[in-house]
Amino acid sequence: ATPAEASKQTPSDSAPILVGQVGSLTGSEATFGISGRQGISLALQEANAAGGVKGRPLALRVYDSQGKPEEAAQAAARLISQDHVVVILGEAASSNSMAMADKAQAAGVPMITPTSTNPAVTKKGDYIFRVCFIDPFQGEVMARFAHDHLHLKRVAVLQDNKSAYSVGLTDEFRRKFTELGGVVVATESYSKGDTDFRAQLTTLKKTRPEGLFVPGYYTDAGIIARQARELGLTLPLLGGDGWDSARLFELGGAAIEGSYYSNHYSEENPDPVLQEFITRYKAAYGQVPDSVGALAYDAARLAIDAMKRAPDLSGPALRDAIAATRDFPGVGGSITLDANRDAVKQAVILKVEGGKARFVTALKP
Ligand code: PHE
Repeated sequence: ATPAEASKQTPSDSAPILVGQVGSLTGSEATFGISGRQGISLALQEANAAGGVKGRPLALRVYDSQGKPEEAAQAAARLISQDHVVVILGEAASSNSMAMADKAQAAGVPMITPTSTNPAVTKKGDYIFRVCFIDPFQGEVMARFAHDHLHLKRVAVLQDNKSAYSVGLTDEFRRKFTELGGVVVATESYSKGDTDFRAQLTTLKKTRPEGLFVPGYYTDAGIIARQARELGLTLPLLGGDGWDSARLFELGGAAIEGSYYSNHYSEENPDPVLQEFITRYKAAYGQVPDSVGALAYDAARLAIDAMKRAPDLSGPALRDAIAATRDFPGVGGSITLDANRDAVKQAVILKVEGGKARFVTALKP
């Protein structure tokens, strides 16, 4: 277009459609925010290469939550009132997503979290969605695996009592493990930011557990594994999706070997759609996507698909289009959003072996 023609267009005709992300780009969960940004950026680039949405390109605005709920809430408010984003993607961690969800719901701006698994997140309101399973399922999966596959009878728990995810997942694990005939012999707690877990581990050791469930994030799990081994605890460690980061293997080293955790996907799944995504992600970022990278990509693509189907990009129209998503082909599995705006998907169990997470089994809802 000549400059004269271009100037005839109103900004909304050609200006980029702004997508917002809130993620922990710094702090002890930094890989969550960085992977999320990578997955979303790749989805936006691919959509732009294919012509954008309604003739407009897509652009991303990202703010750092620093892994803190108050910062996440402020970032969401800024995306809404200052940047006027059409949709908010994130956070990864449930406590942060819950803080953001209040802002998004009040403003009528749709929000999709890639990986927040606590049930309370989407209960914040009808503008809040997720593309992952929820913790009542994940807790059940780990309890069944501990009981049926590892034949554990006595399991101890070390949880982060400041994290909605950690506390919730502990409750769900305990409920199912007890129902199966197992015993949670003791539960000890720490608070985000703690780096010395020896007192709790010493207390737990006295209860003679056969396994230790650590439903925290990767930094805590890596350090806990090392300190547990130092104190002579040789039992298998068990975790949830919050362990999923390449940093887990660096921090945990030999101490985390032989541990198991539940996750959203395995890079060893031969599905060609997934493998082609992994190839593109590796080419762009020089690393294999972790589950936040993969699910953030899916969340962004699902949002873009809804933008194309929606009659316009207003909050209510986009909300309705997202809510109508059925059988969306995500790289981390097919996504159908249910009446609670949650995705019903299978979980995989991974084993830490040779500094990598190896596929063990998949469990269906
Ligand atoms: N499920 C975790 C939560 O709800 C977050 C998470 C999942 C982070 C998977 C990374 C990978 O807090």
